[in-house]
Amino acid sequence: MSASPKSRTTFDLARMKRDGKKIVMLTAYDALFASLVDASGVDVVLVGDSVNTVLCGEDTTLSATLEQMLYHGRIVRAGVERALVVVDMPFLSYQVSVEDAKRNSGRVLKETGAHGVKLEGGAAMADTIRGLTGIGIPVMGHLGFTPQSVHQVGGYRVQGRGTAAADRIVADAEALQEAGVFSIVLELMPSEVAHRVTDAVTVPTIGIGSGPYCDGQVLVLHDMLGLNQGFEPKFLKRYADLAPAVRQAVETFAADVRAGHYPDAAHSYDE
Ligand code: KIV
Repeated sequence: MSASPKSRTTFDLARMKRDGKKIVMLTAYDALFASLVDASGVDVVLVGDSVNTVLCGEDTTLSATLEQMLYHGRIVRAGVERALVVVDMPFLSYQVSVEDAKRNSGRVLKETGAHGVKLEGGAAMADTIRGLTGIGIPVMGHLGFTPQSVHQVGGYRVQGRGTAAADRIVADAEALQEAGVFSIVLELMPSEVAHRVTDAVTVPTIGIGSGPYCDGQVLVLHDMLGLNQGFEPKFLKRYADLAPAVRQAVETFAADVRAGHYPDAAHSYDE
């Protein structure tokens, strides 16, 4: 878990935006997948609170806990040598007071070894972000569709349609930048709105379902690997189709065991 000289930093991400190089971010929730993702050369590994829906079978991220994020943050960090590791702050761990946010985000950095935290929300979170960056905690913002507000926005839907809503997102991004974020995730908004935000701020934007003009892109690993079969939003491109492969392997194993074909001599020990 030591910081090698080649480890990515928040400064590298800023430089990538300046140089026009796209930033690649993927989620991971455990050391094994984190090490595969890291070895593939991604820039940022996000320990998303999506762990609560993707791995834990919950409907939303709202019930994710700080203990859960500490646990997954720690095991992801153990698998990463090179990428920047960012951990999502779960619902209610940063919204109640700036003191709470400092204590809980501080625990995440201290107990997981992550390099930064991500939290959702616009201008209303500026004081909190200022408080965190003021004590040395790097913060990634998250605008557009913010999953912890899913009930307030009426479901999983594109945000920022119409001039007023788009203007609000741009203003929120400027407020987050002024408060000190090192990067902003833009989730589920029209490409042109993400384009406006990306031009309006000097910090890198990382899009998911927000079109091609962001400074980088993020996907949920299990979604892009085709492990999460029921989830098929328009923006999702599957780079593998692993769920059928997993099912086929398990069915073949079960058939082998039932037929007495496994284990055979090649998979058994002699005396
Ligand atoms: O929790 C998560 O995986 C995220 C990404 C969708 C950006 O916040």
